[in-house]
Amino acid sequence: MTTDNDRQMKAIILYDSRSTGGSTDRLIDAIGQQLAETGAYVEKAKCKATADYSFISDFDVVILGAPVYYLVVSSQLIGALIQSNLKRYLKNKNVALFVTCGSPESMAQALYMPQLKIHLIRNRILAERIIAPHQIADEEVIGEFVEEIDEAYRKSFKPRSRKQLQWSPDAVDLLNSLPPFFANKVSAALSIYAEENGITYITPEVLNAARSSPKGY
Ligand SMILES: Cc1cc2nc3c(=O)[nH]c(=O)nc-3n(C[C@H](O)[C@H](O)[C@H](O)COP(=O)(O)O)c2cc1C
Repeated sequence: MTTDNDRQMKAIILYDSRSTGGSTDRLIDAIGQQLAETGAYVEKAKCKATADYSFISDFDVVILGAPVYYLVVSSQLIGALIQSNLKRYLKNKNVALFVTCGSPESMAQALYMPQLKIHLIRNRILAERIIAPHQIADEEVIGEFVEEIDEAYRKSFKPRSRKQLQWSPDAVDLLNSLPPFFANKVSAALSIYAEENGITYITPEVLNAARSSPKGY
């Protein structure tokens, strides 16, 4: 039986760079190769600010990224997000982001990544990375990024386990004794806790364990 989890991910890397054969070209090749090794179908396309992006409808995941020149994320990618129909076709898409630059990561997180994210506030961001030119050949760095994308993508299919959760009568009584708005919060938090811990049957003990867990559900 084929499940959603076996479904082949179709990913497109939309990128920009002023150079040919530079860091960004090498980076997208490395990302593409590692993604293909997970079984994904991958394409890449260089951005143009005025292009038609309707073709991205065919893809499940859109990976957007570019280098930084003089404090600004490369202009054709930003231009596409502002001027073209890219943002419209990105609606409801899973996206992943990368920025390649020479600045320290903290500076890049504060100054450069927001230049992309400000256009993607309604998107589900599967993963994001600042990647320095010297990290491009580091299979572990690229591998972690790709793994995070793949994992988050597969999770997006997981049926919300809340519906499948069974509650013991005691646990239901406890939940019902709470004010409704609080009970809803507890129930939602519990389904996350249960999913993360492989629990399918909620008892008062599980409720206690969730409450005293480090994440404090
Ligand atoms: C003209 C120029 C300006 C740059 N300006 C910045 C910058 O303001 N901040 C930064 O972190 N990196 C900066 N860099 C570093 C590039 O972002 C980095 O080397 C990137 O990987 C280049 O990608 P490319 O080889 O595809 O062009 C600059 C590089 C160049 C060549």
